[in-house]
Amino acid sequence: MNNNGIKVLGVGHFVPELIATNDDFAKIVETNDEWITQRTGIKTRHITNGEPTYYLGAMAAEKAIENAGIGKDEIDLIIAATVTPDFFTPSTACLIERELGINGKPAFDINAACTGFAYAVDMAKNYLYGNPEINNVLVVATEELSKFVDYTDRASCILFGDGAGAFVITRAETPYASFLGSDAESADKVVSRALKSENVFRKNTEDYNMNMPETKKHYFVQDGREVYKFATKTLPFAVKNACDKAGISPEDLNAIVPHQANVRIIETAAKNLGLSMDKFVVYIDRYGNTSSASIPVAFVDAVNDGRIKRGDKVCIVGFGGGLTYGAVVFEY
Ligand code: UT7
Repeated sequence: MNNNGIKVLGVGHFVPELIATNDDFAKIVETNDEWITQRTGIKTRHITNGEPTYYLGAMAAEKAIENAGIGKDEIDLIIAATVTPDFFTPSTACLIERELGINGKPAFDINAACTGFAYAVDMAKNYLYGNPEINNVLVVATEELSKFVDYTDRASCILFGDGAGAFVITRAETPYASFLGSDAESADKVVSRALKSENVFRKNTEDYNMNMPETKKHYFVQDGREVYKFATKTLPFAVKNACDKAGISPEDLNAIVPHQANVRIIETAAKNLGLSMDKFVVYIDRYGNTSSASIPVAFVDAVNDGRIKRGDKVCIVGFGGGLTYGAVVFEY
């Protein structure tokens, strides 16, 4: 274990003002506050009132840069994690760069669904050690799940919210380890469709069998129970492996910030790791599942609440579409 670690110079998050409560959902689908609270832990989620995905990301980034105490021009690279971009091109990262009023930096998006932020932090770390010209990386996760929610499907629509979180990261001689992976055989378990090829030269009218479920337009579908099983298995697996690589035990962590999909997944994972729920940062009641944004949004609330302090050993851990999983252990 070497000490090629990171320092999080600054953090920030941003959520739209508009809030949808469980009672609001009870007015549009057959559900109720009790079911949603007991089965998921969710009470409210923030939903966009028209602000685009990149805008949420730029607002979070603005706060993270201010919190870092550096100038916007000192950002050397922008990585945005998102599954709900506003455009296929330009990337969300380029739009965030423009919104921040800076120019000329390398900027690109990554898609690892709900694990996107953990992947992006690890990618930032690799850039920091692979390219001496890059000193400060802006990592943003920004999502508007409300874009691909089918608001007639009660099993999924109640889960999701919109939001963004951002870190500014630099090099530091601190412990660091990551453990990333995927289970691509389960690619069909969390799905939102992009475009079909309908070019003018096409002669074949039959759709290629992609071995994926049918979807209504681009609307999200998931096999909730299978993903639940996957999540309760891979969350502790990823935390344990990242800790092993860091040469520490999960008990040595001051805080674990998991992807916020369902509080029951986190409770089961805590039990499997033999840890108390006190170690886990959970704000799902406020925001619902905001995919890749859920980890940095919860992280920032934990910092603001004094739950995560400077010098703490923390683990961020995600799981989701792909299916992907990943944990990163670092010192805050
Ligand atoms: O971030 C992306 C990764 N995704 C996840 O991590 C999701 C993981 N999965 C889950 O969190 C859970 O599977 C869900 C929250 C999606 C569903 O909870 P569940 O306890 O697995 O419920 P279920 O799908 O087994 O459904 C139980 C019952 C069903 O009724 P019957 O068939 O038992 O009569 C559903 O029709 O609950 C019913 N139901 C609802 N009832 C009231 C499903 N959705 C609702 C609802 N309100 N919103």
